Amino acid sequence: MALLLEDTAPNFKAQTTAGEIDFYEFLGDGWGVLFSHPSDFTPVCTTELGRMSQLQDEFRKRGAKILAVSVDPLESHKEWIKDINETQHTSVSYPIVADPDKKVANLYRMVHPNWSGSHTVRSVFIISPDKKVKLTLTYPAATGRNFVELLRVLDSLQLTVNYAVSTPADWKDGEDVIVGGSVKTEDIPKKFPKGHKIIKPYLRTTPQPNK
Ligand code: BEZ
Repeated sequence: MALLLEDTAPNFKAQTTAGEIDFYEFLGDGWGVLFSHPSDFTPVCTTELGRMSQLQDEFRKRGAKILAVSVDPLESHKEWIKDINETQHTSVSYPIVADPDKKVANLYRMVHPNWSGSHTVRSVFIISPDKKVKLTLTYPAATGRNFVELLRVLDSLQLTVNYAVSTPADWKDGEDVIVGGSVKTEDIPKKFPKGHKIIKPYLRTTPQPNK
């Protein structure tokens, strides 16, 4: 069974390019982004791991640690990082799990047998500080992921966990948000003093409360 939203993210110990890690210890009290890719030394994956590295400071600012996974061995990862750094003009410093026995891949259902019985697909899991799965994504092999979207989702998760709001389609940090359905219209001015709009009784917006 696939991991579902609000399931507890399974812990594991694994060999990585930064040594052996215990996943929960690695995450500490922060957020986590665990993402898998099919294979080292492949073109889309090379751009993906490079892009994640370029954005690492943005993930750090949001208190999120990054961990990549593939079923290739450690020596392969270490050699491949040199190519990623050279071609994507970056310096990968987040760990990459070497998972040749598919321990992590099976725990997180990252192998989809209808695509390949032996390689992980492009999966992403965002994990909250209480170790719950907050987002899952699965992309096909020929489609590189949008890593800026993961930052946008983290912004939304970190906002909506603290305020009775949700974020609309294509929302970006700083834009108006939707007042949660649990908030009575007459209570909005007290809860959201920056103002609000009533577009429909069920669609009420307010400026982002933590900006
Ligand atoms: C790639 O990263 O380019 C790739 C990996 C596996 C299958 C197809 C493409």
